[in-house]
Amino acid sequence: MDVKLLFLLIFVNFNLAWSGKHDLYEGCSVYGLVLRDTEDLRILSNLEVDLDLDIWRRGMPGVRDAIVMTTPNNRQLFFEEIDKHGIEYYGKINDVVEVLEKHEEEVTSYKMQRNKALPFNDYPTYAQVNEYLERIASENPDIVTLVNAGPSFEERDVKYLKISTSNFTDPNKPIYFMDATIHAREWVTTPVALYSIHRLVEDLRGEERDLLDDIDWIIMPIVNPDGYEYSHTTDRLWRRTRSYRPELNATCYGVDGNRNFDVNFNTVGVSSDPCSDVYPGPEAFSEPETGYVRDILLENDRIQIYLNIHSYGNYILYGFGNATLPENVARIHQVGASMGAHIDVKKLSKANYYAVGNSNLVLYHSSGSAQDYGQMIVPFSYTLELPGYEYGFLVEPEYIEQINVETWAGIVESARMIKLFYNERLNK
Ligand SMILES: *[C@@H]1O[C@H](CO)[C@@H](O)[C@H](O)[C@H]1NC(C)=O
Ligand SMILES: *[C@@H]1O[C@H](CO)[C@@H](O)[C@H](O)[C@H]1NC(C)=O
Ligand SMILES: *[C@@H]1O[C@H](CO)[C@@H](O)[C@H](O)[C@H]1NC(C)=O
Repeated sequence: MDVKLLFLLIFVNFNLAWSGKHDLYEGCSVYGLVLRDTEDLRILSNLEVDLDLDIWRRGMPGVRDAIVMTTPNNRQLFFEEIDKHGIEYYGKINDVVEVLEKHEEEVTSYKMQRNKALPFNDYPTYAQVNEYLERIASENPDIVTLVNAGPSFEERDVKYLKISTSNFTDPNKPIYFMDATIHAREWVTTPVALYSIHRLVEDLRGEERDLLDDIDWIIMPIVNPDGYEYSHTTDRLWRRTRSYRPELNATCYGVDGNRNFDVNFNTVGVSSDPCSDVYPGPEAFSEPETGYVRDILLENDRIQIYLNIHSYGNYILYGFGNATLPENVARIHQVGASMGAHIDVKKLSKANYYAVGNSNLVLYHSSGSAQDYGQMIVPFSYTLELPGYEYGFLVEPEYIEQINVETWAGIVESARMIKLFYNERLNK
């Protein structure tokens, strides 16, 4: 055999073996869309449902472009629609497989250089997150309680920490509840939850004592452990849960956890196709994982703020997804705006400023979201969309620390504000 050919064969083989994991995204590309008005947002949202278009970032007309991923299946129809409506577009990622491979290499080499005891400055696995929660709880039994909410669909424990200097018995303290990674691929959100634990328990600074003394905390770093694990082992861009209901659809797994809550369930911004990324599930709370979030909201009547952390896009959003504003919208906006402004102070110059507002008016309609469900129960409920910079969901691990630190500044600010408002309510 020709030596060159042999070499080529070995090379091809090596490449195939090595890249097999991301083959799923063969022929997928990512585009920016220049949105002109809300009509363009409507068209985009229809494509999401009709073509199963994966919207990475929704965008704001005239301000922020939408980012979408096309597949070989929907590519042609997508461009027909975009051209028909005269929407301008440009390429962002030509070959998603190549970018996924590069991302995996970066994450792997970053992990090898790092101190494994600090999972909040890394992309930890589900097991590493549990180890961290267990260690923090066992080293700080006076202020930290580890709770196992129950099993996920695939029977992974959904765990969270309760942090309190008074074991959740002081009625004068508001509770701050945050969770992360309801959408599996939004990896950068879990470190923010872990870093918050770190700052409250392991690295409490003198000027932040009030946060621990005056507020109780509930922090759930992984809402959707099955999807999270799957995004580590098999499909980096997996978004949904991993429930399997062959009687409804034998091919597709999971539902969009963030459409699965019992608030305007299955009305707008959803698809009835069980394979869609915005499939809300057969019924509200069909997923055990969203049920655990509901239980926390219902069981703790002092929760004043619920922060449902996502990536990406630099948004702080509040209810309702049907454009109706909550009664206390002025204050909700005030706390959200202050949180965003405090993060903006520390942001990288290349990052977008935070945009703050009603999720429907800023982005587009939705139903069954965690944010909306939270808003029915607690005074302040937000979707926080962390930065993606130029990487989208595939933020290089070098940026995790930056995102942790800047986001913590926003969390601190929001915690102090809701404490103040809670005092006002108590003193009325
Ligand atoms: C905190 O309260 C729970 C009951 O709600 C109790 O089981 C637990 O032992 C208490 N922990 C501490 C450290 O007092
Ligand atoms: C399940 O999903 C696949 C892929 O979208 C589709 O072709 C099939 O018709 C669906 N089956 C049912 C029963 O809905
Ligand atoms: C929007 O949803 C909220 C929360 O369920 C509800 O209170 C409000 O009435 C809804 N608005 C409309 C116009 O349906």
